[in-house]
Amino acid sequence: MCGIVAYVGSKQCQDLMLEGLKRLEYRGYDSAGIATMHNGKINVVKTIGRVANLEDKLETVGGVRGTIGMCHTRWATHGGVTDPNAHPHTDDRAGICLIHNGIIENYASLKTYLQEKGHVFKSQTDTEVLAMLIGELYDGDLEAAVQAALREVTGAYGIVVMCEKEPETLVAARKGSPLMVGVGNGEFVIASDGSAIIAHTSHAFSLEDYQVVKVTPKGFRTSTIHNVPVTPKVQQLEIDLEQIELGSFSHFMQKEIFEQPKALRNTLRGRTDIREGKIVLGGVGSFAKQLTMAKRIVLTGQGTALHAATIGEYLIEDLARIYSVAEYGSEFRYRNPIIEENTVVVAVSQSGETADTLAALIEAKERGALALGVVNVVGSSIARETDAGVYLRVGPEIGVASTKAFTGQVAVLTLVALYLARRRHMSADQCADMIRELEQVPDKMERILEDDARVRTVTEKYIDRDNWLFLGRGYNYPTALEGALKLKEISYIHAEGMPAAEMKHGPIALINDGMPAVFIANRGRQYEKVISNIQEVKSRGGRIIAVATEGDEHIKTLADDVFYVPDVPECLSPMLTVVPLQLMAYHAALLRGHDVDKPRNRAKSVTVE
Ligand code: G6P
Repeated sequence: MCGIVAYVGSKQCQDLMLEGLKRLEYRGYDSAGIATMHNGKINVVKTIGRVANLEDKLETVGGVRGTIGMCHTRWATHGGVTDPNAHPHTDDRAGICLIHNGIIENYASLKTYLQEKGHVFKSQTDTEVLAMLIGELYDGDLEAAVQAALREVTGAYGIVVMCEKEPETLVAARKGSPLMVGVGNGEFVIASDGSAIIAHTSHAFSLEDYQVVKVTPKGFRTSTIHNVPVTPKVQQLEIDLEQIELGSFSHFMQKEIFEQPKALRNTLRGRTDIREGKIVLGGVGSFAKQLTMAKRIVLTGQGTALHAATIGEYLIEDLARIYSVAEYGSEFRYRNPIIEENTVVVAVSQSGETADTLAALIEAKERGALALGVVNVVGSSIARETDAGVYLRVGPEIGVASTKAFTGQVAVLTLVALYLARRRHMSADQCADMIRELEQVPDKMERILEDDARVRTVTEKYIDRDNWLFLGRGYNYPTALEGALKLKEISYIHAEGMPAAEMKHGPIALINDGMPAVFIANRGRQYEKVISNIQEVKSRGGRIIAVATEGDEHIKTLADDVFYVPDVPECLSPMLTVVPLQLMAYHAALLRGHDVDKPRNRAKSVTVE
């Protein structure tokens, strides 16, 4: 997702805005730009590449001056990665300058209209169309021009606009793309994420869809795009700087892998009652009855969240005995889905902003489903759309490759499954036993993390191999998918994850001498079957890396390398078996010399379909 940072106040804002922009770098982008206004003149500098490239370019031009300005990181959608397509964009008449996250869907017809009026475009973007449209409608009042333009627009936007004729004013607006306004003392920071605000002020409010804010150093005014005044709720930002800084770690992904035990304790805290043998989920309280009566549960998400959702599918079906299915939001939404009575849709998402997941959720709601959220970012779009929900509480996740959010999602889905099971048929004793096991997971995770150096050594052995398989069964089939995704997304090694039994139906043809096959072979109902699958790969020359249960000596006779995880009930095992796979992906990316936290072509949060 693109990043937005804008400032108005009394300080020279170039450097402070760039600092904020760096905090958003993790979201993924391919170009960056800045504009400030000084003596009523807007100065724009933009470039493809990193914020560091923008800093170099600024240095060569002597920087930009001004106490009002905006900057942006762009992740290309309309138009290639070029300097002219980078933001900010300006209009050709009224001195308008604009940055934008999202997509203007009707940009083509608006562009034709504006070209007929004589406007000349310099880029291929939908954003420039919006800048021109605001310029076209500008009649001495920037706020009114922005409102009028947005009434003509379909699509998604988080925008910040300034105008040379109003040198102390920023106007920002939102529909479907998050935007927050940090309220300081005589200064305001507008950003797409609180982490770019927190260094300046901890007071902030979020814009709602179709809301517009006009900000000057003296204050702000919020309204709708139809100019109906609204009063925002200024709140305390719940982020502290330590959470979004690296500390002693080299990368955010590494920090977040190692943070998992602590994060998980946070996820579980206050949600289990061992004495009563029950799960306490405050966020679903008023819908408890409806949830318990569910006949079908549809879990939806994308990427890592979908893998967690698939484990949720197994958990809910196995423990709560409710028919459940996990599906990509992007597929579910467009398949004309059947939503029968007593269907619950569960949207699983770290950011709470993934466009496909959000769209699937809305589709299911419109067809009558009860909507539950399993989300990390408090107050995000998905969290707001759901009827009820359980937050992950794992803290901000910055690494593009999701790690602690995954284990947090699985933990929350385990709680949800146990909550439902207990209300349906599970005894207090059985539930108390599971809680006891669940509460030991963070300590057991710590033991796996101690094996980090060995994971690196093993990864090094296979680092020149370009094709890997990840295989698992049952609860650990989704773990295999997640292991493959982790490896490919940051090390760019081709990896496929699949159910171990499926391998025989085609992928086995790929196995040649030395191909690494990672088996999740912990003890469980299908252990023997996984062992047979290992034999099948081994006899064809594949190299076996196994994730196995501590004490399993037999596996050593089959596998080339083994990572041990402590014993847990099978349904809790993915939270442990995934950890060596995360570490392996991390080390593979480093060994291949890649930027772990900023993998190519990737974005932390994908807010376009
Ligand atoms: C992007 C991220 C992935 C993430 C997926 C879903 O592709 O890079 O790491 O799993 O979106 O994101 P969400 O925020 O909905 O969990």
